[in-house]
Amino acid sequence: MVDSWVNSAESIGADLHLELSGGGGRRAALIRALRDAVRGGRLAPGTRLPPYRSLAADLGVARNTVADAYAELVAEGWLTARQGSGTRVAERVEPLGAAARVPRKVPPRARGPRHDLRQGMPDASAFPRAAWVASYRRALTRAPSEAFGPGDPAGRVELREALAEYLARARGVRTEASRIVVCSGFAHALRLLFHGRVLRGPLAVESYGLGFHRELLAAASVRTVPLALDEDGARVDGLDRERAVLLTPAHQFPTGGPLHPERRAAVVDWARARGGMVLEDDYDGEFRYDRKPVGAVQGLDPERVVFIGSVSKSLSPALRLGWMVLPERLVGAVLEAKGEREAWASVPDQLALADFVVSGAYDRHVRRMRQRYRARRDRLVAALAAHAPHIEVTGIAAGLHAVLRLPPGTERSAVKAAAWRGVALDGLAAFRHPEAREDAPDGLVVGYATPPEHAYGAAVEALCGVLPPE
Ligand SMILES: Cc1ncc(COP(=O)(O)O)c(C=O)c1O
Repeated sequence: MVDSWVNSAESIGADLHLELSGGGGRRAALIRALRDAVRGGRLAPGTRLPPYRSLAADLGVARNTVADAYAELVAEGWLTARQGSGTRVAERVEPLGAAARVPRKVPPRARGPRHDLRQGMPDASAFPRAAWVASYRRALTRAPSEAFGPGDPAGRVELREALAEYLARARGVRTEASRIVVCSGFAHALRLLFHGRVLRGPLAVESYGLGFHRELLAAASVRTVPLALDEDGARVDGLDRERAVLLTPAHQFPTGGPLHPERRAAVVDWARARGGMVLEDDYDGEFRYDRKPVGAVQGLDPERVVFIGSVSKSLSPALRLGWMVLPERLVGAVLEAKGEREAWASVPDQLALADFVVSGAYDRHVRRMRQRYRARRDRLVAALAAHAPHIEVTGIAAGLHAVLRLPPGTERSAVKAAAWRGVALDGLAAFRHPEAREDAPDGLVVGYATPPEHAYGAAVEALCGVLPPE
């Protein structure tokens, strides 16, 4: 029998993967999912289930829905409920053998890994549903009728004004609303700039980054030239005849260091001297845990830096909302690339985000998530110190992922061992530019924001179990 709720909750989160699919409403779907989990042996007899509130929050259902589902399964004999010891899987329920297992509607592969530590995701279970709905309601109630006609490709002025104020205050960006263009995220900004021929290659990029972004650039026939990285960030002294450079100055993605102040100044000097352009990808700039976030490079020269951000890390990548803060002379060309009407970013969503920012809900959410992610990072660091002290966490205390430096030659086998044990994550090699020339250190990129809160402990425990020995 599992005694502490915390432990059992973590093992539940690891194994359960409740998917509320099929007809009959959320309550019926939850009952089915829990029954399947018990029947299939994923929930062992005696396991204590999470309290209504936490499971409801993780699944995005009402607390009563979870309470009703538990009550129904208690009545059917699958679960037991006792004052003071919570709801548990009944001791006498025998998991079915593999042969007798009820065929699943969803093939097991589609259910995803048991422990998802892939980078790139905020904790989706923490999306601020109530505050977002309140903003949406207020925004739509106040919106003039013309807001429901074709959208302005620059984006709603309400949002651009809100962002101008917020980005100045939170990120040290120097702008006004007229130089902001709303887009559907960083990837869209890259498309507009390069597929729209606002900028041209060759483009210098950091030698580690997202392959997806490199592919997107290659599809626009933009040659990317890798800049080596060292402990001070990208070696901008290696810039030569490139027309622009793409950097993640606040928190190098994925290796995790900030760009040294001298290099921040040097890259702006390069752009001024060569007529080049700096693209600043500020993907997680609000999440710094050891100090106040460092301001944007854009603040050094708004005419030489395009600052790009989105809500993908701060709120949700599902919203597809982002912004570009442009030098004045590029605004017209970007708007031309966007076309006559807004075709990407939903206007009602833009209005809701404007309200979310102006009402202070965005700041509150970021503050809350900062605390949560900082605690997760601390937990990861503490678990490694206890169970794998030879593995170092590199980079600054920031963002939604950490890089674990591994002994040389062990990365591939560690990633394989992790996959074997149901832990999804990537090795550093997955992010390396194919033409990078510097040494390739072995490392694991751990997205500690990805699991819901109740599943995080088990994910870290599983991770510690797959790390290579000293
Ligand atoms: C390096 C990097 N840049 C930008 C983004 C944001 O991309 P998008 O706004 O297209 O979701 C991400 C992911 O969230 C990222 O990892």
